[in-house]
Amino acid sequence: MVLMMKAIKLISGSSHPLLAQEIAKLLKIKLTPITLKKFPNDNLFCRIEESIRNEDVFILQTSALPVNDSLVELLLMIDAAKYASAGRITAVLPYYPYVRTDKKDQPRVPVTARLVADMLQTAGAERILTMDLHALQILSFFRMPADQLLSVPIVVDYLKKKDLKNTVIVSPDVGGLQRARFYAKKLNLPIAIMDKRRDPKNQKINIGVIIGEVKEKYAIIIDDEISTGGTLLETAAALIKQGAKEVSAVCIHPIFAKDTEKKVIRSKLKELVVTNTLPFKPKSKRVRVLSIAPILAQAIHRVHNGASVSELFI
Ligand code: R5P
Repeated sequence: MVLMMKAIKLISGSSHPLLAQEIAKLLKIKLTPITLKKFPNDNLFCRIEESIRNEDVFILQTSALPVNDSLVELLLMIDAAKYASAGRITAVLPYYPYVRTDKKDQPRVPVTARLVADMLQTAGAERILTMDLHALQILSFFRMPADQLLSVPIVVDYLKKKDLKNTVIVSPDVGGLQRARFYAKKLNLPIAIMDKRRDPKNQKINIGVIIGEVKEKYAIIIDDEISTGGTLLETAAALIKQGAKEVSAVCIHPIFAKDTEKKVIRSKLKELVVTNTLPFKPKSKRVRVLSIAPILAQAIHRVHNGASVSELFI
């Protein structure tokens, strides 16, 4: 006898409850109740508070601070769902943990993004939904279906409302070229690339040549994340030096390490657009947060109904 999976069950970890509520609202469901706590000995614990037997379970956890607690809490929730006889478990990771440690590019270093994939699988995840990866190769770390969702439709809709005459899309480095090209194609704009290099020893950023025309143009830098703001602000400064009229930026994941927002506010950047893959409340109107909840809700709906996820981004 084949057991049919009954309904979508959305469980939220403690990393981003607002996003979880937004997604649940769009899916017209209630979040599945869960108790999450930390014992005095620092151990985490969770208990799913209603039956999820044979249900199609989606567990939402983004890699918010404290990153290691978010990760362990996710593993515990997956484990609990497994023991609770969930029909299928999908881990939904708007910002993937340890996303930047994705290759063995130095001697004696770990590939932590791959290790995270192994841990998710060991815990019992059967599918992965994640967003705007630093590098696409992370999808191949999984021996299970893994989809990369993109914030492109949301961001492009927002940018299209602006006057984009004489605008150029800029990738701050070669690694981001494919992403920038995708945006440029959707917006029908030309592209430029910076030759950014990071010193592996001290993480200092060096900007080399710019390939493409930026003089007298309005530039929009497209990057996957903003952490210290070093990449963005160095790139913006180099563009201004090369004669760009004005610089704005899209950085999808708002990590905003200490003081980064202050640096952005003090800079000449016209606007910085981020999404809510991580919880972040801007202090300035120059930083705009777009919600990616509709993308996550549609992807969950499609996975549940066995429909294509990639069609969302054509
Ligand atoms: C690097 O390759 C990434 O694509 C981002 O440019 C980088 O993570 C941004 O970090 P930060 O804001 O610290 O320069």
